[in-house]
Amino acid sequence: MSTEPEIYPVPADLAARAHMDRAGYEAARIAARETPDAYWSEQAKRLDWMTFPSKIKDVSFNKEDFRIRWFEDGVLNVSANCIDRHLPHRENDTAIIWEGDEPTDSEHVTYGQLHERVCRMANVLKANGVRKGDRVTIYLPMIPEAAYAMLACARIGAVHSVIFGGFSPDSIAGRIEDCGSTFVITADEGCRGGKKVPLKANVDKALEKVSGVDGVLLIRHTGADVGFVEGRDRDYETEAAKVTAHCHPEPMQAEDPLFILYTSGSTGKPKGVLHTTGGYLFWASYTHELVFDYRPGEVFWCTADVGWVTGHSYGVYGPLANGATTLLFEGVPNYPTVSRFWEVIDKHKVEIFYTAPTALRSLMREGDAPVKATSRKSLRLLGSVGEPINPEAWRWYHEVVGDGRLPIVDTWWQTETGGVLISPLPGATDLKPGSATKPLPGVELQIVDAEGGVLEGATEGNLCITDSWPGQMRTVYGDHARFFETYFSTYPGKYFTGDGCRRDADGYYWITGRVDDVINVSGHRMGTAEVESALVLHDDVAEAAVVGFPHDIKGQGIYAYVTLNKGVVATDALRTALVAQVRLEIGPIAAPDVIQWAPGLPKTRSGKIMRRILRKIAENELGALGDTSTLADPSVVDDLVKNRAA
Ligand code: WTA
Repeated sequence: MSTEPEIYPVPADLAARAHMDRAGYEAARIAARETPDAYWSEQAKRLDWMTFPSKIKDVSFNKEDFRIRWFEDGVLNVSANCIDRHLPHRENDTAIIWEGDEPTDSEHVTYGQLHERVCRMANVLKANGVRKGDRVTIYLPMIPEAAYAMLACARIGAVHSVIFGGFSPDSIAGRIEDCGSTFVITADEGCRGGKKVPLKANVDKALEKVSGVDGVLLIRHTGADVGFVEGRDRDYETEAAKVTAHCHPEPMQAEDPLFILYTSGSTGKPKGVLHTTGGYLFWASYTHELVFDYRPGEVFWCTADVGWVTGHSYGVYGPLANGATTLLFEGVPNYPTVSRFWEVIDKHKVEIFYTAPTALRSLMREGDAPVKATSRKSLRLLGSVGEPINPEAWRWYHEVVGDGRLPIVDTWWQTETGGVLISPLPGATDLKPGSATKPLPGVELQIVDAEGGVLEGATEGNLCITDSWPGQMRTVYGDHARFFETYFSTYPGKYFTGDGCRRDADGYYWITGRVDDVINVSGHRMGTAEVESALVLHDDVAEAAVVGFPHDIKGQGIYAYVTLNKGVVATDALRTALVAQVRLEIGPIAAPDVIQWAPGLPKTRSGKIMRRILRKIAENELGALGDTSTLADPSVVDDLVKNRAA
């Protein structure tokens, strides 16, 4: 490994015009650390408050007096911040550009139109009995209605739970049940890469398994003939015609919940990550402006689906809070051709483009020609998110997509953090390919060893955060004890991210990936325990252990070791059935890439599966299996190595 990584200095013109230059960044770091109340109170003026907060920060990560509260006595409404306050000067500016799956489908929605449509949807929700505090499940494709639905909930104080369209009916049912959701908003179908996603049919199947949902609002997107359950289902257009386009934004306390978003952890079922009104919106807006050095009028495109946190914070809330034009894309990077991303950039004159390394790696494989066939001269800045970006993909992004002229912001964050925490700032931070560089103001990082000992200087270990920031999640919905246990008990007094990290001599941070049983497949978080539970539901399966392995495109692939019941014959048909089982239980995104039949799994004498060994076999690091002598039966390892699936 080279000790002197290449450095891309801040371009002089960017330093001169940026919201935050190097000196500004250093000053903000100190102000946020030393006088947090004064600093964040001043920054909070970026939002439109009905009552400006006088209490700013009230936080303790300790068990005795554990609490996380920001802007507590402030009152505001998220949808008013994202829409109404822009109307006086921006009513006719585009708020949302929608680009459909087919290149012939696109639409511009102005702030004025956004106001009208969100108010109507909010009134439809109210007319159908949805009240402040109720949980509304949103299962929609990437269409403008997804943003309307989120903002309509925010307008009336309902709490949304958006579920990615790639999740199965079982997953939907589990999430509806967990948060006690009473209302669902869906569409007939979604379109991805020329294929249809049966959203309404999935909701129908989910609702066979869970009770408590009184209404399903159906948006006609493809016009497909889908089931309609009288008394339960409501046609959106019919409902919208019955209500007015005026809806007063509900005054909300800063700490009132805004949304729940389910995410995978190392144990159990996905957790309902809860974000609140004031702190979350503030952080989405503040980081969107700083990290992307956003200026009014620019077209901003985050390719993430609204089903993930990136789509929440940088597809909808951050950009709209800042009066931006945000692009929502329903399709995929390789349809109809592998030039699609770059064509969309030219078509809509995108200035800032934010995507995931997995997409870049898959496009990189197609060579430079599909990129070079397009102009991309509108672009000003590139961003990356979701997983570590390998320096090779970084350079391709920089040189080929950005023609060597655009900075790349590699942004590290999590569903739990609400918005970006570690990232270069375009006017302040020199870039090193593969490093998310430095923490934002107010983000206090620490690298610790396995015992929690603090590591100083250039080092590598587990990444913790020692103080709160406004966008931090507030609880696991319905299980506050699990929130504390998961994040604050491993290293008392600190938030543990679950990520490994290296810090170099310049104080740059390099995320090395998860150190827990979470894997990152194409930028999607997956709990190995969830995939295991899905596999063992099959009648022929006795036991399963799932680990990640390096995958050229996806970052990590899913490798499953499966022990069959006595007498069951391992066949290809069974392998196919098991993959189908996981797709059914969780969704297509969780389908294992590799299934290896394992007559036995390596276990300690107390019966604990030694995942470290399984990981090494999956990674084909057979020389690094370590000490296997403590295993109950060391011979199982020989068998697994011998029969390693390619
Ligand atoms: C990983 C997505 C390296 C990390 C916003 C984290 C990253 C998990 C980066 C959260 C990055 C995200 N570099 N790793 N720039 N961004 N990660 O909750 O392991 O879907 O813990 O949030 O993705 O995934 P989540």
